[in-house]
Amino acid sequence: MKILGIETSCDETAVAVVEDGQHVLAEAMASSLDMHAKTGGIIPDQAAREQVKAIIPTIEETLNQLEQKTGSREFDAIGVTKGPGLIGSLLIGVETAKALAWVWNKPLVPVNHLIGHVYANYLNITTEPPFPYLTLIVSGGHTDLVVVEDHGNWHWIGGTRDDAAGEAFDKVARILNLGYPGGPAIERIAQGIPTNKHHVPRPMLHSGDFDFSFSGIKTAMANLAQQVGQDQGKQAELAAAFQEAVAEVLVFKTVKAARQYSVKSILLSGGVAANKRLREHLENEAQLPIAMPAIRYCTDNGAMIAAAAYYNYQPIAWQSMQAKPSLHF
Ligand code: KG4
Ligand code: ZN
Repeated sequence: MKILGIETSCDETAVAVVEDGQHVLAEAMASSLDMHAKTGGIIPDQAAREQVKAIIPTIEETLNQLEQKTGSREFDAIGVTKGPGLIGSLLIGVETAKALAWVWNKPLVPVNHLIGHVYANYLNITTEPPFPYLTLIVSGGHTDLVVVEDHGNWHWIGGTRDDAAGEAFDKVARILNLGYPGGPAIERIAQGIPTNKHHVPRPMLHSGDFDFSFSGIKTAMANLAQQVGQDQGKQAELAAAFQEAVAEVLVFKTVKAARQYSVKSILLSGGVAANKRLREHLENEAQLPIAMPAIRYCTDNGAMIAAAAYYNYQPIAWQSMQAKPSLHF
């Protein structure tokens, strides 16, 4: 089964066609990231305006690729991100998907963006991860630990009480004048730099639950930055110490939860899953089979939405499809 996946929850307009939830046949993406980099963060109404411009050309480009690859523009169903996300951006994808489902007479499958991130782990793989698994979803807006018993059967066991991990990367990058988005910038400058030059707190490490808190780290980093000054060497040391603290806390609690819930594997999901230090920590400490998406499928993309729609195939009438910015689990 070939599914056309549409993702427009934030600043990416991302479309892909994926076969049987795993094989990416075609994909295209437009992003207004460069525009937001100039202002140091996303301006929601600008992101929505860019979505309007990009959605049809991005779908067209994807279908052109599909035709080149398979000799046909035919596919079986449409999967689209329903939420969570920015309302203006979400609406563009959802309303476009509804119109196409109607005119092309295709089944329409709503997809939770967070669950979409988990299914990035199914793209271009040879073996599916064994159930039950634990997934750490770490993105710009979310940090959640979720036990997945089977497709469509998940329960949330903990998450951040304040800032998301990606948000902390973005805010600390801003403190260190490293630009937006913060995650890749911090990772780049921290590469090869010792992590122990500055003391950064590990919030809630021993809290006894599976919750996180990252707003305190952000404040600690602002204080440290003021104390040590802003030359490039110091910036790199601070970035490395911060990245290490976040990776350590995330992996410590994930591994603890995996033990407590006796899962068979651990999956890393979401934009922050692209972070190499986080990936290394998990590899070293998991003591269980682990999976993580290819770096390019960690951040928002259309293929993960198509894969999630395939494995959780519950089409609805296009008339009842609605964007839901605050959708959780
Ligand atoms: O999943 P995503 O593309 O969008 C949301 O659903 O939020 O995640 C974007 C977040 C941003 O906060 C970005 O700074 C972070 O993921 N990110 C990273 C890296 N690449 C992206 N954080 C740490 N290291 C990275 N390499
Ligand atoms: Zn995302």
